[in-house]
Amino acid sequence: MTAQPINGKAIAAEFRQELARKIADFPSEDMPVLAVILVGDDEASKIYVRNKQKAASEVGIGCEVMEFSSSIGEQALLNVIDELNANHHINGIIVQLPLPQHLDTLKILSRISPIKDVDGFSPYNAGLLAYNSPDAFISATPKGILHLLLSTGVELSGKHAVIIGRSNIVGKPTANLLLNQNCTVSITHSKTQDLSTIVKTADIIVAACGQARMIKGDWIKQGAIVIDVGINRVEGKLCGDVDFEGALATASFITPVPGGVGPMTVAMLLANTFQAFCRQQTEPKHCSCGHHNCHCQG
Ligand code: GUN
Repeated sequence: MTAQPINGKAIAAEFRQELARKIADFPSEDMPVLAVILVGDDEASKIYVRNKQKAASEVGIGCEVMEFSSSIGEQALLNVIDELNANHHINGIIVQLPLPQHLDTLKILSRISPIKDVDGFSPYNAGLLAYNSPDAFISATPKGILHLLLSTGVELSGKHAVIIGRSNIVGKPTANLLLNQNCTVSITHSKTQDLSTIVKTADIIVAACGQARMIKGDWIKQGAIVIDVGINRVEGKLCGDVDFEGALATASFITPVPGGVGPMTVAMLLANTFQAFCRQQTEPKHCSCGHHNCHCQG
C-alpha cells in the first residue's frame, strides 16, 4: 500500500475561493475586518501574520495589523484589546503567539471579547468547544485538521485518534473536536511512556509535538490516516513530525509538509472571521466590551 497524500494546499485554495464568493454575495455595505496584534520581533510570527494579511485581502476581508515592541506592558496591551472589543468596525481579533515572557498569555487572550475571538483561544471558546456547543469559535489549526480528515471520506466515529502533543492551540482543542466526532481519543506528550506502542493502535494520528520526524514509519498501523502538524527545518529543508517516507508504506492517507495542514490554518481563520462578521450583523450588541453576561455596563 502507498498512502495517498492529502493535498492541503489545493483543498485550502478551493475553500478560500468558495469563501470569497460567500463574502462577495453577503448583503452588506461593510466588509469583515480582522485585527491582528503582533508583539515583538519573532521572525516566524512576522511571516505568519504577513500570510494572514495577504490571504485576508484576497477573499475580501480587511486586515489591520497592529505591531508593538516586545517591551509593551501588560496593561497597555489589555487597553488595546478593550478598544478593539468596543470598535464595531472590527469583527475578529487575534493575538499572534507566542507572546514575550513577561506577558501573561492567558490573561491577554481572556480579554478578547468571545464574539470576536476568531482564534478560539480564550477560555470561554475553549470551554464552548469542550461542551460541543455550536457557538464555539474553533481554533484554526484543529478546524483545518478536521476538514482534511473529512476530505478523505473515511468515517471518523468510533476510530481511535492518537494525538501527540498537548498544546492549548493544537493538541487539546483537536482532542475535543475529535471527541465531538465520536472518536476515541488518546492525548500523548513528552512524558508518555512507550509512545510507539500507543501510536501503533491509532486509526488516526495527529502529530503535533514539534520534533522533526519523531513518529517512525513502523509505528503506523496499516491503513491509518496521518495528519502531520509539525513544521521543522532540518538542513535548510522543511519537514514534519512524521517520517513521511517511512509512513507512506503503511498509512492510507497522509498530509505532506509543507502543503498539508499549514495552508488550512489560514483558510479556517478567514472562515471564522466571516462567521464572526455574520453573527455580529444579527446579534444584539449587549455592551461595548462584547462579553456575554458581563458587568462592564458599557
Ligand atoms: N502561533 C502559532 N499558531 C498560531 C495561531 O494559529 N494563531 C495565533 N494567533 N498564533 C499562533
